[in-house]
Amino acid sequence: MYYCMLRSFRGNNFIQLARASGSQTPQLWDTSSKLCTACHTTHSPVSGSLQRPLTHILQRHRSLTASYRCMSSTVQRRRMPSAFTVIDGAFHPFHKHVYEANLRNSLICQQKYLDHKQKVFKGGGENAIARHTQRNRKVLVRERLCMLLDDENYLELSPFAGFGLPYGDIPSAGCLTGIGQINGLWCVFIANDATVKGGTAYPITVKKQLRAQDVAMQNRLPCVYLVDSGGAFLPLQSEIFPDKNQGGRTFYNEAVMSAMKIPQVAVVCGSCTAGGAYVPTMAEEAVIVHRIGTIFLGGPPLVKAATGEEVSPEDLGGARLHSEVSGCVDHFATVESEAYEYARNIISTLNYELPEESSTHPEEPLYSIDDLMGLAPRSYEYSMDIRLIVSRLTDGSRFQEFKARYGTTLVTGFARVEGHQIGIVANNGELTYEASLKGSHFVQLCDQRDIPLVFLQNTSPVTPHTLSQAKAEYKVSILAPGHSDALVQTEEEITQINEMLEDESSAFFSTGRLWDDGVILPQDTRKVLGKCLKIIKQQEYQLSREKMRTPLLRM
Ligand code: COA
Repeated sequence: MYYCMLRSFRGNNFIQLARASGSQTPQLWDTSSKLCTACHTTHSPVSGSLQRPLTHILQRHRSLTASYRCMSSTVQRRRMPSAFTVIDGAFHPFHKHVYEANLRNSLICQQKYLDHKQKVFKGGGENAIARHTQRNRKVLVRERLCMLLDDENYLELSPFAGFGLPYGDIPSAGCLTGIGQINGLWCVFIANDATVKGGTAYPITVKKQLRAQDVAMQNRLPCVYLVDSGGAFLPLQSEIFPDKNQGGRTFYNEAVMSAMKIPQVAVVCGSCTAGGAYVPTMAEEAVIVHRIGTIFLGGPPLVKAATGEEVSPEDLGGARLHSEVSGCVDHFATVESEAYEYARNIISTLNYELPEESSTHPEEPLYSIDDLMGLAPRSYEYSMDIRLIVSRLTDGSRFQEFKARYGTTLVTGFARVEGHQIGIVANNGELTYEASLKGSHFVQLCDQRDIPLVFLQNTSPVTPHTLSQAKAEYKVSILAPGHSDALVQTEEEITQINEMLEDESSAFFSTGRLWDDGVILPQDTRKVLGKCLKIIKQQEYQLSREKMRTPLLRM
């Protein structure tokens, strides 16, 4: 069995390759060549030293991640045993009224969540759905995802983005994004919903697409675009394209992702007009659906206005033209279902080697996850000890607390969720100087050990003596409702601003603007966390991650 050891050597990273079998004394390298799963080259020994100098290995691996891996693909890994302490998560009688008040509030929030979900499922409304399915003979976006993905067990990102915006409610911000499995490989999907104003891009659509690309980049997830878009939503055109974090950045990201070896596949299942035309042509492999997919910078009306020529969408930029003449797409699908089959087959050619599914089942928490409905505090005054929440999230309700007696208003420690080791940083009152110091110490510790962090955030406010002190208190709003006296004078102004703060502190307000990746129900927390932890691990299974010098280009 071969393994690799990482040592920190006066700030320099040093890899020692050692052999654990046979001799008790570690040797530099075995005599047989072994394939390095990180750089995908063979580092063979010559006379007790490495054929390639150690610096080569370090340089090549340094471009990957902070943790260096160089091991045989035959290496079997096993987790070190742990026996973290079981938290006492039992309720005491004095919790009862707080629990019940929280539960009443959570049920109201849950209803709001379900109402939003229902609205999102209706997309652009009945007429638009009829136009999409009957007149245009296209498949609805959620049905497309069913054909593309292995199952419906996907993680949708920011489904409520686009609600409550100054320019109206834009269901799903006009496009669905998320992470789902294709042939067992987690992939980001970005899929336009053409029932929402022809799939045109509003400013919030662009923001949502850019965020999904960020998620793909940060976690090295392949990205699949289902393109069906009329380009920019023209009434808001000045806010959509030119600025740094607007539409143009989508194409910049595509180039960067390609150079980073993050695979991108596009399915043209509708109109790809103007900016939308760059998405499939900059993806590494693209599929187009006959009589449905078109790609052009300016459509037939624009051609007529500019040259007087009358041309059909099919002749100007249809499936035949782009797969037989321009070469802008690589696969011609006669019907939509065939296009998703192509996309699935393309994904199966990517350079990943996935591990066998584990047959062991992680321990369930000892306490019911449903209790979280009564533990999610309706306000700071209704918070209970955060360990009650932790005990309903972690495997076996186990938690190895770190610095338990210091800075006690922040709880830090190690646990597992669905078998994945995590570090937890959880507010348990005011964020004091000691609590902050402890938090930064713990975060650095997790960084050093490459352990993902989960933050359970609920920073309670301190008395706002001055505005600058109060400012540091929030995540969702800078100032909590009821703390505006420092800003305004009259009772009327105070009432007005408190109402505004109440409204703007809501998670539905923030998620509508994409300040987060989505709102979930408390009882889904463990399931969602488990999925996220599985997804972020996948990057370890890509066989080659060395950055290329240029993106892959077909144009
Ligand atoms: N900006 C704003 N609204 C647009 C739009 C655009 N670029 N493109 C379409 N819409 C709206 C339509 O006004 C219509 O709104 P309504 O539902 O309130 O009536 C809705 O989107 C659907 O458009 P419609 O043309 O009825 O549907 P369709 O399925 O026949 O065609 C498109 C959809 C996208 C192919 C077609 O509308 C089109 O070609 N649009 C123009 C594309 C373009 O030139 N974009 C350039 C952007 S830089």
